[in-house]
Amino acid sequence: MTLLLTGATGKTGRCIVQSLAARGLRARVLLRNPEAADWLRGLGMEPVIADMSEPDTLGAALEGMEQALLLAANSPGQVVMEKQFIDAAAAAGLRRIVKYSAISAGGDEDYRFARWHGEAERHLFASGLDWSVVRPGYFMQNFLMSADSIRAEGRFYLPACDEPVSLVDVRDAADVTVACLLDRTQDGRIRTVTGSESLTLREVATRMEWVLGRNIAYVPLPDEDFRAAMIGAGAPEWLAGGMIEFFAGASRGTRDHLSGCVQRLLGREPVGLDGFLADHAQAFNP
Ligand SMILES: NC(=O)c1ccc[n+]([C@@H]2O[C@H](COP(=O)([O-])OP(=O)(O)OC[C@H]3O[C@@H](n4cnc5c(N)ncnc54)[C@H](OP(=O)(O)O)[C@@H]3O)[C@@H](O)[C@H]2O)c1
Repeated sequence: MTLLLTGATGKTGRCIVQSLAARGLRARVLLRNPEAADWLRGLGMEPVIADMSEPDTLGAALEGMEQALLLAANSPGQVVMEKQFIDAAAAAGLRRIVKYSAISAGGDEDYRFARWHGEAERHLFASGLDWSVVRPGYFMQNFLMSADSIRAEGRFYLPACDEPVSLVDVRDAADVTVACLLDRTQDGRIRTVTGSESLTLREVATRMEWVLGRNIAYVPLPDEDFRAAMIGAGAPEWLAGGMIEFFAGASRGTRDHLSGCVQRLLGREPVGLDGFLADHAQAFNP
């Protein structure tokens, strides 16, 4: 076992762990919350408790590893945390990091999450480690954040945006990440992962109507109303601000890119929005 996973208790990470386990592969898993340790052990993984924001805790997780998946949640401390992880991995003798990033990092970087990822990517490129980078588009799973209002009112509220956004199911982003972890010919490659469709938010609402069989509307909110609503619902200001920036960039047509990566790398079609909605109909329907 020479692979260390981070972020394994999150949306993508859970799919990655399950995919590796289904192949009979084992990994060490860095996690900060011991509650998931039994689930990981049951899948043949080796849980190690550590906190990526505290570099002093990383030693036992990194010891003896050859490569790591670096997958961290967005936060204002993300760049520092990822840079520290990269430095600690290099110092511990790891040879390779697969970094989970985001669309537009290294390009326009017109929203803060892309800027944060871009900065961490550049640190990785300069680290001397071998690397591979996965940059997913907008997660279909983000619509689950609107599941309450879709169930209760048949509406979802997001910043105003009339341009298409390339969507990806987290399960496809996870499968591409696993392919990068298992294939050293992906070294030095950046994989932008999208599904097979770019859709406007109004088109997403129409698809929801077809698949869920109810009237559903996208309600475009002025940025300040969206910020106030998110903060009122308990979200941090930086998250609201990042989403506003994301859709402001998308409104300039910068998120309408389909990469074909799932088809090329995995030899199959990506999960479509209809399939995602059908799989999560219970969450969206009253
Ligand atoms: N949402 C999108 O549309 C989108 C699109 C492209 C890229 N991305 C990128 O995807 C990444 C998030 O992926 P995700 O949504 O699959 O993850 P997620 O569900 O947000 O989960 C984040 C994971 O990181 C772990 N983590 C956070 N801070 C940690 C720390 N200090 N030490 C150890 N572990 C820590 C969490 O552990 P706990 O269980 O302990 O919290 C969890 O396992 C972000 O970097 C984001 O920029 C998102």
